[in-house]
Order: sequence, then C-alpha cells, then structure tokens
Amino acid sequence: MNVNNLLKPIEQFLNCATPQRWIDEAIKPENLSVLLTDHLICELKAAQSAMFLIRRYAVDTDSSAALLEWLKPYEDFTYRKVGDWRNLDKLKLNKSIIAKSGKPYSQDLIDKMVMLIREELHHFYQVLEMMEEYGIEYENINSSRYAKGLLRHVKTHEPDALIDKLICGAYIEARSCERFAKIAPYLDNKLADFYISLLRSEARHYQDYLSLAEQIAGKDISQRVVYFGEIEAQLISSEDHDFKFHSGVPSYSTLPLPEQASAT
Ligand SMILES: [Fe+2]
Ligand SMILES: [Fe+2]
Repeated sequence: MNVNNLLKPIEQFLNCATPQRWIDEAIKPENLSVLLTDHLICELKAAQSAMFLIRRYAVDTDSSAALLEWLKPYEDFTYRKVGDWRNLDKLKLNKSIIAKSGKPYSQDLIDKMVMLIREELHHFYQVLEMMEEYGIEYENINSSRYAKGLLRHVKTHEPDALIDKLICGAYIEARSCERFAKIAPYLDNKLADFYISLLRSEARHYQDYLSLAEQIAGKDISQRVVYFGEIEAQLISSEDHDFKFHSGVPSYSTLPLPEQASAT
C-alpha cells in the first residue's frame, strides 16, 4: 500500500492536522537532537504501555515476569544509562506468553500487543542507530504533556478504563504516523526513508488499538472515540512552550527574539 493510502484513514481519524508551526520547528537542524531523543523515549513508552496493558489485564504471573525481564535492559539504558545499546537488538522474548483464564479477549490482546512491543523495541533500536549516524549522544529528557494530557481523562472503573486506554493508544499511534509523514519531505533522504518505513507498522498499531477497544467493549464506543479525539486535537492545536515529538503549537515561535524586536 502506498503512503497516501496508508495516511488517508489516519487523517480521517484525527480531528486536526499537525499545525505548520510545529513542522517549522521540527525541521530546524538545532532541534534534531530533541526530536530524535524524544522519539526514542516515545518508542520505549509505546512498548511499556502495551506491556502494562497485557500484564494488568491478560497474562499469567510467569508471563508477566518474563515480559518485565525482556524490557529491563531497555529501561536500564534509558533511565540509568546502563549497558551498551548495540546489544539491545539481540534481546529476544524467550517465553510464550500465556493468557490468564477467564478473560475471553486475552489471547487476541496478547498476540497483538506482543507483536506491537517487539516492533516498538526494534524502532527504539533503529532510532539509536539514527542518533549515532547524526552524532547525537543519548541524554534522558522530560516527557511532553501529550500522553499525560490524554490519559488523565481515562475513567477509573473497569472495563471502561481499559477501553479508554486503548483509545488513547490509538490516538498516540495515529498522531505519530501523521507526524512522520508531515516532516519526512523536509528531511534528508536517510531520515525521511526511516520515517516512512515507520509509517507502515504505526498505521497498523493504531488500528489494532481501536479494534481491541471495540472488541473488549462489545458495544458502540464511538462517543468515547470522539471525546478523546477532541482532547487530542486540543493538545495538538493549542500553544505549548515545550517542543517535543507530540507537542502542541510552539508558543515561543510567535514572539520575536529581543534583538529582532529592536531591529524593526
Ligand atoms: Fe514505534
Ligand atoms: Fe507504534
């Protein structure tokens, strides 16, 4: 499927396009470091959230421990700068992940999420390869307001909380995909090709989250999807002082720098 066909349903799903002012900021060479570093951490967060969902809702105790063990070297590197990142891509999940009994949706949730985690961790490694290519050394940075801004609206009782988290997952994946496509034309070939290659798996991830949410709810969830769509669009189209991969409109870019102000 070509990129435009992949993007069409994503753009229809999202309530707003990425504002041009964010794109203008994202393509500044001095922002490449923060863009790639934040992207890297987002890949880990995507794996962590998917893992949290299946550990919380779907897998047995031994499987839960095996999943944590799999993720640990990635977290050690990211949060504690422990280990050599070049070894991360050799790590495999060596245990079959077993559903806990009594949940009809467990195996499907597990299968989709384990594949998603595997892909996100591979993306994590690929971003590190890109960072090395561009001479960017990894430093941990704070997360943007985006995911927190969505997740704070998740209901507190089950199964609604799970359904809401899956809908948030769908929006985060869809927005990542849309942003990769938006900035790719402005980047050099190597980075552009990388972002376009990520589109394919991220496009499927958003659909996986959405179909799991529908399946688990067993009822129409369109009102909830609309609700989170509005919050998401608000986070993307409102001003944000903190530039990151999922940030809003850069607020500082509207203000002339002091020397520019005095020159006019
Ligand atoms: Fe990813
Ligand atoms: Fe993803």
